[in-house]
Amino acid sequence: HTLEMELEAIEKGGYEHFMMKEIMEQPKSVADCLRGRVIAEQSHVKLGGIHHHMEDLMNANRIVIIACGTSWHAGLVAEYIFEEVARIPVEVEYASEFRYRNPIIGKGDVVIAISQSGETADTLAAIEIAQKNGATVLGVCNVVGSSIARVSDEGAYTHAGPEIGVASTKAFTAQLTVLTTMALMVAKEKKMLSDVNLQKLLFELEQVPQKIEETLKLDEEIKVISALYKDATNFLYLGRGYNFPVALEGALKLKEISYIHAEGYPAAEMKHGPIALIDEEMPVVFIATKDSSYDKVVSNIQEVKARKGRVIAIVTKGDVLIPKMVDHVIEVPDVHEILMPMISVVPLQLLSYYIAVMRGCNVDQPRNLAKSVTVE
Ligand code: G6P
Repeated sequence: HTLEMELEAIEKGGYEHFMMKEIMEQPKSVADCLRGRVIAEQSHVKLGGIHHHMEDLMNANRIVIIACGTSWHAGLVAEYIFEEVARIPVEVEYASEFRYRNPIIGKGDVVIAISQSGETADTLAAIEIAQKNGATVLGVCNVVGSSIARVSDEGAYTHAGPEIGVASTKAFTAQLTVLTTMALMVAKEKKMLSDVNLQKLLFELEQVPQKIEETLKLDEEIKVISALYKDATNFLYLGRGYNFPVALEGALKLKEISYIHAEGYPAAEMKHGPIALIDEEMPVVFIATKDSSYDKVVSNIQEVKARKGRVIAIVTKGDVLIPKMVDHVIEVPDVHEILMPMISVVPLQLLSYYIAVMRGCNVDQPRNLAKSVTVE
């Protein structure tokens, strides 16, 4: 028994929990994921694993992304990126909905199935339906040789290494890395981006690991904020554009491991409901980095402050406006907006981790949850 415990301690690499180890590993896992696939200097962007279906992807009428949980959130970010840089229409579906709703799918559609484990039953079943109807299926999996990786027509691994904590962290940032790389690869082939813009994005993508590293240094600061809000009963997470799925993911992380009720919303939708919840008791996390929706988010922050909500804002380093309006700021390094989710999600992972630990929760194995859901 003690030997087992020692082995586990070694596996945790000196951290108290797998989740923290996996959060901290992200500079490395994203770098591993990019290795050989992106070489900005040469404007090289290529995923070896989707070679044979590149034409299908370039000529797709439509891309349908199918996933569950955190992987579905990665899909939402990918929708915005693909539509922006490759100009291909994208739909993102929960696998569990897709499989039971008689979807319109067929030849000319490319399905991207995203799954950390590669074993999620609903995602597997959705793939079967898509293939039966003639669609091409590309898998984005973390576990090598998993069922989804095997049944997909082709795919690209995320190479994040084993993820043990039930709440997905490094798999998410690796999924974003693969999906961004895929979108840029298609954009390059379709000549949707100028050489200069493509190369600029590739250079920024190469810098993401180092920027995650920088973000992880906010650790102690986030711990202090966590202590202030650990007893909250509700949390609201708001973001727009590329940061909208990050809001969903931040809320999911908190629910999963701390059991605090949390909702993620597109910030502009707040006025259609969640704004009714806001009072001086309500912590609201804004993902408010400098991007094309920044000004709009600033107005949303004002709406929350006018109702005395407590605002924690994730902002771009050097922002002088938002810090004057809110209760707490967490400053992350600047990066092109399509890459920001890989950075802005990191403080939210840490926030949920610390809150859960302070509440005495079992962060690696939260109640009622499973790492892979192999039943429907
Ligand atoms: C479970 C896990 C989540 C994960 C989801 C989808 O709910 O607890 O962390 O996001 O399944 O799993 P997959 O392996 O398909 O990405």
